[in-house]
Amino acid sequence: MGQGKFITLEGTEGVGKTTNLELIRDEVAGAGHSVVTTREPGGTPLAEEIRELLLAVREEPVSETTELLLMFAARAQHVATVIRPALEAGQWVVCDRFTDATYAYQGGGRGLDAEVIHTLENIVQCGLQPDLTIFLDVSVETAARRIAERNHDRFEREQVAFFERVRTAYLERAANHPRIRVVDASVELDQVQGNLRELLAQFLSESS
Ligand code: TMP
Repeated sequence: MGQGKFITLEGTEGVGKTTNLELIRDEVAGAGHSVVTTREPGGTPLAEEIRELLLAVREEPVSETTELLLMFAARAQHVATVIRPALEAGQWVVCDRFTDATYAYQGGGRGLDAEVIHTLENIVQCGLQPDLTIFLDVSVETAARRIAERNHDRFEREQVAFFERVRTAYLERAANHPRIRVVDASVELDQVQGNLRELLAQFLSESS
């Protein structure tokens, strides 16, 4: 059996990742592939514990480097025990966020050096990269309106300027990495999903 494909879904907060992740899973499964859906930070019991540490609102300021290392600690566990074994077994992996989020949030948002992120990426992933990344894009104002009602985690409490930097970093990465496809998520859900289905149909046919 061949290696499975690795699809990641990205976006700032409030872009409807959860609903669209289900659609991606259903499209891939519908094409006859065995699919594992997972998320970052998280995806294993240990990595989910690290996620709780990362998202908790706390009095102690979290250093940017601590945040970065915890993201990659969670990722190391996730890649080693879930993602890589699944791909090697021929399963497709659909993951809610991956390392593009680190370049966007810790790189763009927090201002950490992309070279440092790149070094950690090499250590943790040993060359593993998504085959397809979908970036669901909405303006920061629209996203803020959509999450206004939620209980905000440590990231969601950031200011508008932080999310503008995150979005800009995602769009810049998309411009430089053909595997990253930008989907406008500001339109009606039906239209977003139609565009996603089209994009996936093309990817599935190229992958068969
Ligand atoms: P979620 O709300 O999409 O589950 O993601 C949790 C938060 O973690 C979200 O605010 C983005 C943030 N995050 C990073 O800052 N860096 C990363 O590498 C990942 C995977 C997520």
